[in-house]
Amino acid sequence: MKILITGGCGFVGSNLAIYLKKNLKKSKIFSLDSLLRKGSELNKNRLLKNGIKNYTIKIEDIKKINRLPKFDLIIDCCAEPAIEASRKDPDSVFKTNLVGTFNILKKCINDKSNIVFLSSSRVYSIEKLRKIIKKINILKPIKTRKKISDEFETSSPSSLYGFTKLASEKLIHEMFYKTKLKFIINRFGVIAGPWQFGKQDQGFVPLWVAKHIFKQKLSYIGFGGNGHQIRDVLHIDDVCEVILIQIKKFGKIYNQTFNIGGGVKNSISLKQLTEKCINLTGNRIKFKKISKTSIFDIPYYVTNNTKVKKFYKWEPKKDINIILEDIYTWIKKDKYVRNYFK
Ligand SMILES: NC(=O)c1ccc[n+]([C@@H]2O[C@H](COP(=O)([O-])OP(=O)(O)OC[C@H]3O[C@@H](n4cnc5c(N)ncnc54)[C@H](O)[C@@H]3O)[C@@H](O)[C@H]2O)c1
Repeated sequence: MKILITGGCGFVGSNLAIYLKKNLKKSKIFSLDSLLRKGSELNKNRLLKNGIKNYTIKIEDIKKINRLPKFDLIIDCCAEPAIEASRKDPDSVFKTNLVGTFNILKKCINDKSNIVFLSSSRVYSIEKLRKIIKKINILKPIKTRKKISDEFETSSPSSLYGFTKLASEKLIHEMFYKTKLKFIINRFGVIAGPWQFGKQDQGFVPLWVAKHIFKQKLSYIGFGGNGHQIRDVLHIDDVCEVILIQIKKFGKIYNQTFNIGGGVKNSISLKQLTEKCINLTGNRIKFKKISKTSIFDIPYYVTNNTKVKKFYKWEPKKDINIILEDIYTWIKKDKYVRNYFK
């Protein structure tokens, strides 16, 4: 089987490419990435060391995409994933996340390839998600342990990022309708782990670890600036494992949408994350409180993994402590990575 991973030099794409190369011995893995994201050059070198070729192409360039060889499966991990880019750089969100999916789907139709699409928990309605926490008491931790399933409301607004992800999902349904092609859509919550070049607006877990290692300042932004907002976090190894199972079971399980995340056990507030980073690094850093909340931010998101567990008998294995330790070891070990975060 020939597999193309778009966004293959990104955090998810690069880890997945290397994992599939090791675990699907008879398959050939390729990457497509324009190397737009800072840090993606380092991931490209990792791919090359593992014998994986990258096509340095922009996903919106249909002419170049049409010239690529035929693949049996495309795993679409290419995106502008920062939620705040919806406001700061809407053109790139639209082109990469929606035109990009359209181009990849046209290629799938031409070549008769199946697709695994990486969608996001951000397809869900911001207002409905905010209502889960009825009244946010900015002085106290959030108590609810509600879990969000794939049946949660997807009405707008959900940010331009969320819109392009949901629209991409709908495009898959439209374009694969009445064809024999198969798809899987995975709506992931927060994913974290080594080779994630985190920044303030995307990839907060490695950013938190790095700022503690290098004793730099951080900010609690939004919801009063107390760091009580909660997310569940999923280890990248768990992401790779579940996608491998999905590929192996594609013959029987297809045309489904799953919510996949760390779940209640792996849910954590920013404040709790800070405590864990202090224990891990021995360093305590300064925090700036920014109480104003972005219109795109949500106070709480925790995944309901019931469906993915039922279909694949799969659950996340690596807990939040392992995620943090793995990120810590990764940042400490590699001088180029240290330079990125310093
Ligand atoms: N990381 C998370 O927590 C998370 C959570 C939910 C969903 N997702 C989804 O998973 C996928 C992978 O996310 P990630 O965290 O690896 O992001 P990432 O930014 O690390 O990787 C995306 C890659 O796409 C490349 N890229 C961006 N624009 C491009 C373009 N126009 N043409 C070609 N390449 C381009 C970048 O250079 C980068 O290497 C995305 O679809 C994202 O929406 C991620």
